[in-house]
Amino acid sequence: MSPKDPVQRSAPPLAKELGAALQDLGLDAAEVALPQEGVSDERAVLITVAPGELPTEERLSSLCERAISGLGPDGYLLLHLSGRRSLTELARWRDGLWPAFHVGARYEFAAGGDVTRVLLHDSTPLPAAPSKAGSVRVGELLCGRPTDHVRSPEQTALKFDANAAGWNGTPGRADYLHHRWMRRFVGRFAPKASFSRVLDFGCGAGWVGIEACLYHKSQSLRFFDPSPEMVRISTENAKAAGISDASGATGFGEEPPYPGPADEPFDLVLSSGVLSFARDREAWYEGLARTVAPGGTLILGDLNLRSMGMRRRRANRPILPIRELAAVTPAEARAAMEARGFKHHASSGYQLTDPVPQLIHLDTTRLGGALSHPLSWCNRLASVVDRTLGAPFAPLFDSWVMRFTRER
Ligand SMILES: C[S@@+](CC[C@H](N)C(=O)[O-])C[C@H]1O[C@@H](n2cnc3c(N)ncnc32)[C@H](O)[C@@H]1O
Repeated sequence: MSPKDPVQRSAPPLAKELGAALQDLGLDAAEVALPQEGVSDERAVLITVAPGELPTEERLSSLCERAISGLGPDGYLLLHLSGRRSLTELARWRDGLWPAFHVGARYEFAAGGDVTRVLLHDSTPLPAAPSKAGSVRVGELLCGRPTDHVRSPEQTALKFDANAAGWNGTPGRADYLHHRWMRRFVGRFAPKASFSRVLDFGCGAGWVGIEACLYHKSQSLRFFDPSPEMVRISTENAKAAGISDASGATGFGEEPPYPGPADEPFDLVLSSGVLSFARDREAWYEGLARTVAPGGTLILGDLNLRSMGMRRRRANRPILPIRELAAVTPAEARAAMEARGFKHHASSGYQLTDPVPQLIHLDTTRLGGALSHPLSWCNRLASVVDRTLGAPFAPLFDSWVMRFTRER
């Protein structure tokens, strides 16, 4: 039997049963290998978990080891779990695959033969072949990709190019008030001062750097992002905001395109919501530190791994965005910057956690914005209190922000 024979490689009848999911992923059963000796650089590896088998540490580490050695760099890890599984259990399997693999999709196989694809924001029934009663194995298929592939420069640029309009926000939509307030909160986190050169590090649609320039009356703004579309939108937004000397470039925090070889570092650098996307966190911290002039100010913010809402989501939701899994605690980010010669001055939480994001979503999708102002005031008041008291309420917020100065 040839090593590419699907019968040997995908454990019939399982590969046949998974046909609808494989087709949805653009995979052929012949591309699915079982993780055995000598198998490497495969497009897909299928690992099965027996009914009742639990995600113990030992099982997970041997499973990851086998998957890593069997798969190519952009391959698919297909983890098939027989029987019904709770969302909590699936989330534990997902956590066990992290950080080697990011699970971006799962497929549910029901007794009647129905197959449903579940992604981050939606679930969709797939066309599946009709099956005879009792002939179908009930189960779940978790589909993971190597994290390094998902966070590769190419994938990052593609993903954010595709989502750039969403990050820009939609004026007139009920959640736009919140969208802009968050950026204003971070953009104004440094006390008013005269900063002559400002850098937005991982700018997205540019709002954080723009808010900072408007607040500090600075006319020189540089910004960069891996996504060319984000840079284009930021350029337009900065121009519309009246910032006379604003320009951007594509690039990554690990190798920032600013300052240029002939330029000095910046006296105000802001990075908001970017750290959790960094593929190489240490290189990213180094890159960030390099952009700040001695004596300069750094504003660094990101998701709060330990907020009540994030913890709940992590425990109950098998599919999560990569940034929620990769987020670090503010204590880790602070220690990383202090080790690079930065002095911490202030911290705050912002964006109240559950149920506020759900209420904002409900308000946007069903209530036509009736609650947008009260919800926004709750957020503003809570952040002001947390900031004033030195950030004692961290678990109540989905995001954090800190202010540093560069001492050496
Ligand atoms: C959550 S958005 C935040 C955008 C903006 N800073 C804001 O607060 O609205 C994350 C941005 O980080 C960018 N990004 C992802 N990986 C990055 C990296 N390694 N270095 C710099 N930027 C990155 C993305 O393209 C995206 O625009």
